[in-house]
Amino acid sequence: MTMKRILTGDRPTGRLHIGHYVGSLSNRVKLQHEYDTFIEIADIQALTTHFERPELISDSIMQVAIDNLSVGLEPEKVTIYLQSQVPAIAELTIFYSMFVTMNVLRHNPTVKTEAAQYGYDDMTYGFIGYPVSQAADITFCNADLVPVGEDQKPHIELCRKLVRRFNDLYCADAPLIKEPEIMLGEFPRLMGLDGNAKMGKSLGNAIYLSDTPETIKEKVSKAVTDPSRIRATDPGHPEICVVNKYHEVFTTAEHEDICERCKAGTIGCVACKKRLMQSLNDLLDPFREKRAYYEDHLDEVRDIIRSGNARANEVGNANIARIKEAMHLNLGGVQA
Ligand code: TRP
Repeated sequence: MTMKRILTGDRPTGRLHIGHYVGSLSNRVKLQHEYDTFIEIADIQALTTHFERPELISDSIMQVAIDNLSVGLEPEKVTIYLQSQVPAIAELTIFYSMFVTMNVLRHNPTVKTEAAQYGYDDMTYGFIGYPVSQAADITFCNADLVPVGEDQKPHIELCRKLVRRFNDLYCADAPLIKEPEIMLGEFPRLMGLDGNAKMGKSLGNAIYLSDTPETIKEKVSKAVTDPSRIRATDPGHPEICVVNKYHEVFTTAEHEDICERCKAGTIGCVACKKRLMQSLNDLLDPFREKRAYYEDHLDEVRDIIRSGNARANEVGNANIARIKEAMHLNLGGVQA
């Protein structure tokens, strides 16, 4: 029996953070033995916002690969590859772009939020079209399942629409492309330590998977808590406290107890933050160990990506040939 396939990816515009972990990476690790897992390092998608900084993208490619390996993805199980090295994805992007309208892209809520975040008053063709390219990322290999954070939901919905349209137009009798399902993490949206609704690389409020214990200490110490608590014995309001939201995710078993003690004024903010630092370090310690190994074996990481590229091309070339055939892009049957 053939395994179902997972596809998901990351933009190499910096290192990955714990929001990525709870939204998507933890599911990748959990499911890698049950699914044929494809992890895309989306370097072309990174160009949509960082085309003027190609060196940042190339530096981040190795970091993002190591982030994925450090959390426990096993290189002999998963296919980690570079988007720019798989031409089938670029071809499929162009095909999909024929039947997606500008208004659909303009109204995509994640595109809108990101455009505001980057301060775009106009958008490049590549940027507004990145959800189309993402649909090609997901479907060039006929993925069944896409583990992502909540912000990616509009893109998966668009992808499903494009697949339906494609199949209706070109191969209604025997659909060629699968409609993928979204898989949200248990905590699909982690807020920033500053209280911002989203943790983001470009928002300056992230805890990275590669942060040292010292950095964790510094960042958690600075997190904003309930402003009405002056003394440790003042009754607190855990429902408005960012540190408490993090305990829910990272100190789950003790979360209720921490809430009660905060409300009763029997745990102060300093002790509560210390507990969170410990939870985060408990999570990150095993990742740190694996990271150190891969940072010492960069050639091994390059080889993992190289063989991932080869596998992705094998799958992609076979699929794109069928897709072009269905679209009559074959000179009336005469292929090169
Ligand atoms: N847009 C995703 C992000 O910003 C990254 C991504 C690129 C992706 N291609 C993908 C996610 C395909 C899932 C599937 O995090």
